[in-house]
Amino acid sequence: AFNLKNRHFLTLRDFTPKEISFLLKLSADLKTAKYAGTEVPQLQGKDIALIFEKNSTRTRVGFEVAAFDQGARVTYLGPTGTHIGHKESVKDTARVLGRVYDAIEYRGFGQAVVEELARYAGVPVYNGLTNEFHPTQILADFLTMQENVEKPLRDVAFVFIGDAANNMGDSLLIGGAKMGMDVRLCAPEACWPSEAIQNEARAIASETGARIMITEDTDAAVAGVDFVYTDVWVSMGEPREKWAERIKLLQPYQVNATLMEKAGNPRVRFMHCLPAFHNTETTVGKEMRDEFGIEAMEVTDEVFESPASIVFDQAENRMHTIKAVLVATLGN
Ligand code: CP
Ligand code: NVA
Repeated sequence: AFNLKNRHFLTLRDFTPKEISFLLKLSADLKTAKYAGTEVPQLQGKDIALIFEKNSTRTRVGFEVAAFDQGARVTYLGPTGTHIGHKESVKDTARVLGRVYDAIEYRGFGQAVVEELARYAGVPVYNGLTNEFHPTQILADFLTMQENVEKPLRDVAFVFIGDAANNMGDSLLIGGAKMGMDVRLCAPEACWPSEAIQNEARAIASETGARIMITEDTDAAVAGVDFVYTDVWVSMGEPREKWAERIKLLQPYQVNATLMEKAGNPRVRFMHCLPAFHNTETTVGKEMRDEFGIEAMEVTDEVFESPASIVFDQAENRMHTIKAVLVATLGN
């Protein structure tokens, strides 16, 4: 019923609620088929370029395994080693890759770059994260939410808490508005999405029945939610110097046991797109302890490791939902 063939996947704003629901259903079906051993490859002979100007674990492996499961081949073009963006323009790169590949994934900086690629490539282009949007992540998040509650998405309430002025805040706001959900963003005003994104989300909400709350008040934002979602306080591409300022600003918005209790919902779940700074086991974690004397940033280890945490379901679902996007846009 839904023909998404040859479509780009740049932001969820380009898709209707029904198209998003279709992609989620296709993701669930592909996931079931994979584990039942009944998956039918639909991408044999297709070649997909994976451009990563920033690092990635989940998005890269998601695209690679999704493509392999479906019989396609991929080429990984990492942050170094190609001419993209320094010696050759995005427009020229798009026209070269469009001659060789059937589709292109792009992770990088400005949304304008992925849009320029899409304008000139002549083949479907997928946004694997820009500074502004991370749409494949949102598909995985909504699939994970559906797996964890027995009600339709439009009856789901979630709060995104922390730094909401970036790709995750923007994308969850637009995506939640599209699906008619109870969407709450909780952050100091300096970390809210732009006016333009807020207005766009409110306009979408007036059509879909979504409820939108953007607030500094953690009690109001968390009360009654099904899901508490957070993300790093300093995103890829932002200078390390932001740490001190963000830690000071966002400490009251840390997801810890006390905050989770404010939901007043014994079945509340914790979500995070990952990677997360929840302990001092990583290089960054150690630096954070040495410089600021803190053990965790956006989420405590206690909540991250608790039974309420569904972060690895989200991570797995990246692959199944990316596969749905590939099959819908490129499949036979
Ligand atoms: N969540 C996410 O996009 O993870 P990666 O940066 O590992 O791809
Ligand atoms: N906001 C984060 C998301 C990572 C998946 C970043 O851009 O680094």
